[in-house]
Amino acid sequence: MKRFLIVTFAAAMLASCGGGDGTKTGETKDSAAKAETPAANDITKDPAYEKGLALEAANDCATCHKIDEKVQGPSFTDVANKYAGTSDTIVTHLAKKIISGGSGVWGEVMMTPHPMLSQQDAEAIVKYIFLFKNK
Ligand code: HEC
Repeated sequence: MKRFLIVTFAAAMLASCGGGDGTKTGETKDSAAKAETPAANDITKDPAYEKGLALEAANDCATCHKIDEKVQGPSFTDVANKYAGTSDTIVTHLAKKIISGGSGVWGEVMMTPHPMLSQQDAEAIVKYIFLFKNK
């Protein structure tokens, strides 16, 4: 009986050695996943980034907004920290505000209206701005 157990154990060891190959494959996958992590944290890889950046650059936003510094308007980081993920309608709301302009939320300075922007494009810029949360 003892011998049977030892043989079974040895067989199990062999089987798990065979499984060792499987583990190696698993490790490869793991390290690939690890290699993807920095990219996942890299906002420039986000689909919202390129589109929003292009739209922002094609407009006058940078005259009054910087990513991490208040100019005439609040920094994009401050805007993102205030709103990102707060509600489902916030993107729509902020896009409308960009189009119509306004003041009173961050101070008395007025944001000029941007009537040439479509609601869709303004929303794309808002999603881009939200990428700067906690940066
Ligand atoms: C003439 C300067 C100016 C320009 C140009 C400008 N902004 Fe603003 N922006 C402001 C000011 C000032 C505020 C703060 C308004 C307030 O206090 O309600 C603001 C606020 C915002 C907010 C936050 C709104 C809120 O209610 O909290 C967003 C988002 C924003 N701007 C995006 C943009 C985008 C995108 C563009 C380019 C299409 C742009 N801004 C162009 C001055 C500007």
